[in-house]
Amino acid sequence: MPPMSNLEQLAMLAVEELENRIRHHNKLYWDDAKPEISDYDYDRLVEALRARAPRSPVLEDMGPDLAGRYGAEVTHQTPMLSLDKCYDDETLESWGSKFQGDVVVTPKMDGIAASLRYDARGNLTLAATRGSGLAGEDITANVRTIVDVPNNVPHGEIEVRGEIYLKLSVFKDFEEKFSNPRNLAAGALKSKDPARCRQYKPSFAAYDVLGQPLESEKEKFDYLVDVGFPPLEYKLVPKDTLRAGYEHFAGTRDALDFEIDGVVFKANDRAEQERMGLTAHHPRYAIAYKFQGESGTTTLESVEWSVARSGAITPVACIAPLPLSGAVVSRASLHHAGFVGKLDLSLGAEVVVTRRGGVIPNVEFVKTPGHAPVLLPKQCPSCKSDVAQQGDFLYCSHPESCREVQIQQLAYFCKVVDIQGFGEKLLAESYDRGLLRSSVDLYGLQREQLLSLERVGDKLATKLLGQVEEHRRLGLATFLRALGIDELGKHVSKILEDRYEILDRVRKVTREELAAIHTIGEIIADKVVTGLAASSEQIDALLQFVEFTAPPVQSTTPEGPFTGKSVVFTGKLLAMDRKAAQQLVREAGGETPSGVTKTLQILVIGDGKVLEKSSKELKGEKLVAQGTPLEIITESDFLQRMGKKST
Ligand code: IVH
Repeated sequence: MPPMSNLEQLAMLAVEELENRIRHHNKLYWDDAKPEISDYDYDRLVEALRARAPRSPVLEDMGPDLAGRYGAEVTHQTPMLSLDKCYDDETLESWGSKFQGDVVVTPKMDGIAASLRYDARGNLTLAATRGSGLAGEDITANVRTIVDVPNNVPHGEIEVRGEIYLKLSVFKDFEEKFSNPRNLAAGALKSKDPARCRQYKPSFAAYDVLGQPLESEKEKFDYLVDVGFPPLEYKLVPKDTLRAGYEHFAGTRDALDFEIDGVVFKANDRAEQERMGLTAHHPRYAIAYKFQGESGTTTLESVEWSVARSGAITPVACIAPLPLSGAVVSRASLHHAGFVGKLDLSLGAEVVVTRRGGVIPNVEFVKTPGHAPVLLPKQCPSCKSDVAQQGDFLYCSHPESCREVQIQQLAYFCKVVDIQGFGEKLLAESYDRGLLRSSVDLYGLQREQLLSLERVGDKLATKLLGQVEEHRRLGLATFLRALGIDELGKHVSKILEDRYEILDRVRKVTREELAAIHTIGEIIADKVVTGLAASSEQIDALLQFVEFTAPPVQSTTPEGPFTGKSVVFTGKLLAMDRKAAQQLVREAGGETPSGVTKTLQILVIGDGKVLEKSSKELKGEKLVAQGTPLEIITESDFLQRMGKKST
């Protein structure tokens, strides 16, 4: 006879025995927290009892019906929308300017949104996830295990919305199995067995109630506490102190027993909310100011002021080393002098610093003030000339003779013109020795001069001179941009090149003419025209050394193979580098956009051997398959059309 299965053995037990065993294991599990059998074996006991005595009160005692409606689709009677989000004060303030009255500020809990429905008698009947916003999944059985959720409320027919989350103090016991508390909360809710969900002890924070005639968010929060939900901390603030609301919650972030990923702001007044209305995605009366990256608290040790290419003198916070998102941070941006004032920053202050996705960390706000004020410099830290203040910014009053400004300008020139090898150290030493005072000097550099610099040997000198030599021929737009004039960046210099084609014409352009160009406008026009006039000497001096590459083909020029065509290169080109190839196309009257789009006309695949197709090539092929009139050609085809022999 084959051995009896566990189930068969159980099936032979008396109902009473099954009930006793289940009670016994319930006690071990729930009261003593010392289970003696696996969840699997426990479930077998329950199944056996259910089969024999479906109405056994023990099954009731265990809590909700295990078979439940878990996972069934639940249509939300009112869609569960998302929140609009922002990452900066300006956006938040502009949001705040759109309505009347105060603002309710709450922490943005990092969990799973849920909707709880109570029936006319005040009993919890249905709990569902947000899902698509229009319909979610039934999680009633699991939600019933959450101690924060009352089973009944005194007033009937309401819907409570909030976040199911895991306390950090609970999460720490499960850390090894789940990557973060939110995942665990989601996992707990997905559990087919409410006993398992209960084991993870999820919590609930209510932030909204529907179905009650309440006139403000504040009334809603008070109501929710009245009917038995744990209070969610909120602040009611006037609109001109939104930042203080943000700082309050961001400042307590480290001390909270749950994770928050931002701060939620809502217009308090329901009538105002109704007036503002909704989009399909979010209500207009609410916004989340989201945290970016990890944040931490540290001490401000000093403030360093440095001079930028523009002559702006900008502060950097030197902070006690702080580990953030996998790196130890000791410097953080303070943006500009105005920000120091806005933060009311002081030395020795405890400051909260965040690291936003890889970029330089930011000082967000002061948690506890320090002992000495941060003084704004009265003199340029580099050249000691007076400081001039313009709005939030401090400027060196003599940038033309300021060492730091000039070194930064030289570095910028090299970067734009693509002269490689002149790092900041080399530029600084050359500047101090009087070899390089402005970009023009680059073109007059002698080998002996370079060799006189520290750590410059024959090989490096040859390389540097070669780089300078190679970059005597410049496109007009590059030349203009390299001048480092405020607002004469990539976009405007390209417009000037396209329109005026030669430098003489650009130099004669008037403010009015420029301002009339779409996307330029008066302020930029003014800066560009003034800047060009002020750089007149430098331009003349540069013209002794540089020459311009041919201006783009004009309408009088005969049609070439690439006139009016947009061409993108991908893969490894054999005959020339990509920049040179693009230059050829532009000289032949074509355009060279940076990416593959529907409007691209020609995609050139380099003849260099590579293992995999580039993403540009794949995208190109997809567009062709979709019927886009894009031509994909090889580098050899390209050279042939250009009238050049392929290598
Ligand atoms: S108010 C229209 N308050 O964040 C939704 N939401 O990213 C109004 N969330 O789906 C929600 N904490 O689940 C509000 N204190 C809080 C919140 C909060 C977390 C969630 C909510 C929403 C999501 C949007």
